[in-house]
Amino acid sequence: MFFSASLLGYALLLLASTVFAAPTSRLDGGIARRVGRNLLTHFSPTDVVSENLLSARNGGGGGSSSSSSKTSKTSTVTATSTSTSSPPSSTNPAVLSSNIWAGVGMESPANTYRSVTGTLVVPHLQPATGGAIEGFYGGSAWVGLDGMTCQTGSMATGIQFIYLNQSILANSWTEVAPNSAVTMSSMTVNAGDTVKLTLTATSTTTGTAVVENLSNGQSSTVGLTSPSPLCLANAEWIVEDFQEGTFLMPFANFGSITFTDASATTQSGSTVGPSGSGSHLINIVQSDIQFTSASRTASSVTVDYLTSIPF
Ligand SMILES: *[C@@H]1O[C@H](CO)[C@@H](O)[C@H](O)[C@H]1NC(C)=O
Ligand SMILES: *[C@@H]1O[C@H](CO)[C@@H](O)[C@H](O)[C@H]1NC(C)=O
Repeated sequence: MFFSASLLGYALLLLASTVFAAPTSRLDGGIARRVGRNLLTHFSPTDVVSENLLSARNGGGGGSSSSSSKTSKTSTVTATSTSTSSPPSSTNPAVLSSNIWAGVGMESPANTYRSVTGTLVVPHLQPATGGAIEGFYGGSAWVGLDGMTCQTGSMATGIQFIYLNQSILANSWTEVAPNSAVTMSSMTVNAGDTVKLTLTATSTTTGTAVVENLSNGQSSTVGLTSPSPLCLANAEWIVEDFQEGTFLMPFANFGSITFTDASATTQSGSTVGPSGSGSHLINIVQSDIQFTSASRTASSVTVDYLTSIPF
């Protein structure tokens, strides 16, 4: 059979209501925490231009240091995928590639952003292109602050969705790096639900995540505390092929996910959309195959599924 008993056990572990709790089987020894939401740990330069930009960033944003700690970090990317990219730069509007992220990331000076919001419909998943109908596949859709370039902290809230042998399961979660993601247990989520995600930094170390079911008006609010300060330099709307330890989830065919009413508010109280200054489109590329097509308007971010690699 395509799908071994141990993989099924693994899939069921992912669905446990407390996500990524203490390991309970030999398979999940490396799965105790969600990792990999910091974009730069999954980037490597693809050309001379981006290499220069990366060097400049490593030198403090404007310098030309050739030491490249982030480049070497990319070599630790999971062996289950390859990472290709151009690094973010506020002067480079190019589409970026990531092995796990698709959507839009805003890159601005520190202390720019205060909150980020977007509304999405929880997708009806299909197997990855070419994947078995009895297989398991997954992904995540979320809004975040500082996952892109901030090296000290980040916060995010979103929906994780898993396809398992024609069943679709989803939950909502919050995450404060470097801690594990935490499931919002009061909020079970179903495919087809319209869910509004809002993340607000109330200071550089505290925040609130609100997940609202716009289909019935219920909402859940979680207070967040970061162990180290946020930069408030990035806002993100992302569909993610998430990792558990070194295991990269086979990316589900989610069709298309659109974050509507997508906006970020700034520290000065103005509202900026995902096509505003500092915006970068991001697509998932694994093994030189582009998995997604991201696009944006002034108030929305859409990620279309193109293909992915099943087991
Ligand atoms: C998938 O579901 C079908 C119907 O419930 C079941 O017969 C089959 O054994 C399941 N396959 C796996 C791999 O669990
Ligand atoms: C959202 O509301 C719809 C409609 O009442 C309901 O079917 C669904 O279960 C709700 N989802 C959550 C997460 O509460």
